[in-house]
Amino acid sequence: MKVFYTKAALNAYLDTQKKNKQIGFVPTMGALHEGHLSLLKKCKEENEISVVSIFVNPTQFDNPEDLVKYPKTFQEDTQLLENAKCDVLFTPAVKEIYTKNITASSFDFDGLEHEMEGKFRNGHFDGVGTVVKKLFEIVAPNKAYFGEKDFQQLQIVKKMAEKQQLPVTVIGCEIHREKNGLAMSSRNSRITEEHKNAAPFIFKTLKKAKMKFGVEDPNTVIKWVEEAFEKQPLLTLEYFTIADEETLKNIRKKEKKTKYRAFIAVFAGEIRLIDNIQI
Ligand code: PAJ
Repeated sequence: MKVFYTKAALNAYLDTQKKNKQIGFVPTMGALHEGHLSLLKKCKEENEISVVSIFVNPTQFDNPEDLVKYPKTFQEDTQLLENAKCDVLFTPAVKEIYTKNITASSFDFDGLEHEMEGKFRNGHFDGVGTVVKKLFEIVAPNKAYFGEKDFQQLQIVKKMAEKQQLPVTVIGCEIHREKNGLAMSSRNSRITEEHKNAAPFIFKTLKKAKMKFGVEDPNTVIKWVEEAFEKQPLLTLEYFTIADEETLKNIRKKEKKTKYRAFIAVFAGEIRLIDNIQI
């Protein structure tokens, strides 16, 4: 695996390789786990050159403490990528990406940014849009892979590519889970043992909510989930919502021909976890 720290070195290498080769790209913030590797697997299947980036993007953290405490496991990450036969790792310093100011640009994602995570994480999606656009410009991939784990992020990146006519196909990948159902996340390593034992309740509840949604109206399902979390002392529900997959607007009643998804954010102690399920 080739490792590059600068745009110039990465571009010089890709220029020698590119001729008619498909480049697949998986942007990450490191602390890699099986979820990230499942994106790389799909990327490798569909492209001739696989590029993974590791860059902890300062402008997408609404909580400064979260940025400081974000797990950094560079040695392990490199080994995992080597083992998975990644072709190229791009891991730039902050000043390589934000040459002047460490600030986010402002984006209009047709309202997708105001729903769910947008209500609780101020400026988060401007930060994501800023860095993903910069990375797309540097790597110039044919295809880019994003997890459904962050479904709102996936839809926002798709929207950005469409609105700005970026020459990249954005591909969504299924959520990779622990055996107990907990969605894999770099944040899971920061959950206490006690909270880790409680956390599988999140996905169990999503699955039950999916069943209930078959026979009940959305409000009844929402109320049921809220009550279920009230009985869980170790987990604090921030939101549970049922939304249209395309607009991410929450729904009050079911309509035909629309795909729905249930979204959830929960605090397991200090650690904020998100998950979702198509219903
Ligand atoms: P990060 O949290 O490192 O995630 C990188 C990619 O891995 C994202 O597309 C995310 O949705 C995906 N991913 C994480 N956990 C997953 C799981 N359990 N199953 C499937 N996919 C999973 O998301 C980011 O970084 C950043 O916002 C980034 C896009 C890199 C921009 O800074």
